[in-house]
Amino acid sequence: MSNLRDFREDFPILNQEVHGRKIIYLDSAATSQRPQQVLDAVMKYDHEANGNPHRGSHALSMRATEAFESVREKVRSFIGARSTKEIIFTKNATEAINLVAYSYALEHLKPGDQIVITIAEHHANLVTWQQVAKKTGAHLVYMYVDPEGRLPLGELQKIDQKTKLVACTHMSNVLGSIFPVDKVIQRGHEVGAKVLIDGAQAVAHMPVDVAELDCDFYVFSGHKMFSLTGVGVLYGKEEILEKMEPFLYGGDMIEYVYEEETSFNELPFKFEAGTQGIESVVSLGAAIDYLHEVTFEVIHEKEMELTEYALRRLQELPYIRIVGPKDLNLRGAVISFVVEDVHPHDVSMILDNYGVGVRAGHHCAQPLLRFMEVYTCSRASFAFFNTKEEIDALVDNLNEVRRWMGYGSK
Ligand SMILES: Cc1ncc(COP(=O)(O)O)c(C=O)c1O
Repeated sequence: MSNLRDFREDFPILNQEVHGRKIIYLDSAATSQRPQQVLDAVMKYDHEANGNPHRGSHALSMRATEAFESVREKVRSFIGARSTKEIIFTKNATEAINLVAYSYALEHLKPGDQIVITIAEHHANLVTWQQVAKKTGAHLVYMYVDPEGRLPLGELQKIDQKTKLVACTHMSNVLGSIFPVDKVIQRGHEVGAKVLIDGAQAVAHMPVDVAELDCDFYVFSGHKMFSLTGVGVLYGKEEILEKMEPFLYGGDMIEYVYEEETSFNELPFKFEAGTQGIESVVSLGAAIDYLHEVTFEVIHEKEMELTEYALRRLQELPYIRIVGPKDLNLRGAVISFVVEDVHPHDVSMILDNYGVGVRAGHHCAQPLLRFMEVYTCSRASFAFFNTKEEIDALVDNLNEVRRWMGYGSK
């Protein structure tokens, strides 16, 4: 690792101060920052190729089509899908989950069926299925985590013959735990259910191969993997997508339109109604190039080094409780914690005074936090550009938080 370049230099936003202190960004799990390479790609597109893809035969429209569709191929290869027909651009992971809910689940589920999810789901992958269950009469069944935030394999027995759909996070945005999605998918398929994996917290941190996983659907957002906001991806197996009805109607998703009838475009365009966020898609392509350049090997090594260090340093503080597994092998670079007797919003506001940005609140996972009897907590999440010095600043300033709130650091 010693001869690695300083990745911080790739991120212009980190080169500034907040409240007179150098910014320390520990909130990459909420949204990641963009490297110059991604910003340059968007600027280049706007300078050279902006037009409406798929709609014109003039030079700029064709360049826009080429830019847009080349990213589809990059995404396909990035996640190991078999065909670009299986890659649908959405606004974000949330919209991708909703697409499956509306176009697949609402059409296929009926009273008495079962949807199985984990208690650790982000609201995007929980409220959606709760509402599908209400609308279809299906039962929503939860698989629960153990006190350390791991999914016991025994919980997989809840996926039974009545189960038609399973939705599971690849990595929890609160606990940091990496879930045994291969076993979840295998169990889902044993009973004939379709399985959706929420990869929002995974794709920027580990290589993902959807063909090898054999999941039916896989979703993620660009803005958690160094692209702009406004782009997400739904991967779906071609044979399933082929049979699904469109989600949104309008331009580009059609083949022929008559006064009374419409035939729909082929995959993947059938699911991409209207003009897409083309700059965002372009930025996603550049973000994938960037991740390849940095390499998952380096990302994993850096993130694990930081996570191991942060877990150790945080546990030196007697007033800190970690919410999630302490075993490095089971987790990614997201650490949620409770500061005894201090509300997380106070924690994050006081840390902000020292330039340290962490997330506070329920992290869009209220049922999980209620189940863990935590209700609200703070979260630090790391990217490969963070440093041990920044973790020291977090830990040292947590002592300041306690002092500000009138407690000693013990
Ligand atoms: C695990 C997980 N799933 C889904 C989402 C939703 O992502 P988005 O808001 O980009 O749709 C998030 C966002 O934090 C997440 O962490």
